[in-house]
Amino acid sequence: MTGTGGIRLAVIGAGSWGTRAHLPNFAKRPDVEVTALVDPRREAVEAAAQQYGVRHIYTDAEQMFQEVGRLDAVVLATPTDTHCRLVRAAVQRGAHVLCEKPLAYTVTEAREMVDALHAANRVGKVGFLFRYSPVVERMRQLVRDGYIGDVQLFESIVLNAQFMNPTAPLHWKMQRARANGGVFVEYGVHSIDLALWFGGPITSVVAHGATLVPARHHDGTNVPVDVDDVSSWIATYASGAEGVFRTGWASLPVGGGGLRVYGTKGSLAWHLDPTTRRSERLLVATVEHPEPRVEFEFAPPYDPATDAGIHPLGLLARYNARLDASFVDDIREGRTSGPTFDDGLAAQRVLAAIRTSLDERRWVDVDET
Ligand SMILES: NC(=O)c1ccc[n+]([C@@H]2O[C@H](COP(=O)([O-])OP(=O)(O)OC[C@H]3O[C@@H](n4cnc5c(N)ncnc54)[C@H](O)[C@@H]3O)[C@@H](O)[C@H]2O)c1
Repeated sequence: MTGTGGIRLAVIGAGSWGTRAHLPNFAKRPDVEVTALVDPRREAVEAAAQQYGVRHIYTDAEQMFQEVGRLDAVVLATPTDTHCRLVRAAVQRGAHVLCEKPLAYTVTEAREMVDALHAANRVGKVGFLFRYSPVVERMRQLVRDGYIGDVQLFESIVLNAQFMNPTAPLHWKMQRARANGGVFVEYGVHSIDLALWFGGPITSVVAHGATLVPARHHDGTNVPVDVDDVSSWIATYASGAEGVFRTGWASLPVGGGGLRVYGTKGSLAWHLDPTTRRSERLLVATVEHPEPRVEFEFAPPYDPATDAGIHPLGLLARYNARLDASFVDDIREGRTSGPTFDDGLAAQRVLAAIRTSLDERRWVDVDET
C-alpha cells in the first residue's frame, strides 16, 4: 500500500460480477475506499455508484487512470479481451490488481501481464474463487497430506442452465472474438486452475465441444454462435495421472457435479448443491473404509443478500468475499498469496491447448514456454 489511510481502490466493470460479487465486499470495508467505478454503460455505473457510495464515476478507464489521484488497487471485472490492456494500465499507474478470470485472451497476453506485474513489484490476484471454498481447501489439504496416496485421476463436472433458453440473447461470453471460446473458457478455466492446484502440471489435452444453440438474437437479427455451449476434455498430468472434465451452460443440472480426486489409498468428492448453492460437502472413501462418509460440511445460515432469488450466488459469494479479503491482506502485508498471475498464466496455457484441440480435433501438448 502507498501513503497513509485506507486503500484507495477502483472497480472497473459495473456488470453482473463487478456489482453483485466484488463491490459489496469492498464498499463495506472501513479500511478500503472505493474511489472510482468505471463502465461505458453510464446508467449502470451511476446506479451502482449510488448504491455503494462511490464518489467518482467514469465511462472510460484511461480517463479514470489520469484523473483519479492516488490509486492503490484496481479490481477488474470486464470482458476477457479488455483484461491485458487494462491490467497493464493499472500496473503502470502503480496499482495492485485483482483481475477476473481468465487472466487474458491468449498466452502471449497473459505472459505480458505477468511480466508487467513483476516488473512493477505489485500484488496480483486472479478470480479463481473456488480455491476459497472451505471444502475445496480441506480437500486439497488432505491430498497434500497424502491421505488418499498418489493422485491418479481428477474429475470435474460443471454444468448449469444459464444459457439453456434458446431465446436468450447473444452474450459477449458467446463470441470468440471477445472470449476466445465459450463455456470451456468461462467455467472450464476454474476447473483447470483446481486441477493444476491439486495435481501439478498438465502436459497434454484432447477436447470436444458442441454449440447447442447455433444462433442467438443480437441487435435485431439472429447471428451464428461460434463457441461451445458444452465441452469436454481429457488431460494428462506430468505425474502420469489423468484428468477428465465436462463443462456446460445450456443443460439443466441433475444429481450434482463438482470435483472428485481418486488416489492410490482413497478418493475425495466435493459436492456443491447445484440449485440453491447454499451448502457443500466433502465425501471421503478410503481403501480401509470404502463406504463413503461425509468428512466435512459447510452450510452457513441463510443470508438474503446472497441466497435469495432464482439464481443466487450462494456460497460463491462467500468464496469471493474471502478472495477479496485476501487481496486486501496481501496488499497490507506486502505478500502475494494464490491464485497469482502466474497461476492465471498456467491455466491460460491449458486453455490455449484446449482451444487448438477443439479447432484441430487432435491431442495437443501444453506449451510451457
Ligand atoms: N470468478 C467468477 O466466478 C466469475 C463469475 C462471473 C464472471 N466473472 C468474470 O468477471 C468478468 C466480467 O463478467 P460479467 O459476468 O460481470 O460480465 P458482464 O457483461 O455482466 O459485465 C462486464 C461489464 O464490463 C463493462 N465493460 C466492457 N468493456 C469495458 C471497459 N473497457 N472498461 C470498463 N468496463 C467495461 C461492460 O459494460 C459490462 O458492464 C469476466 O472476466 C468474467 O469471466 C468471474
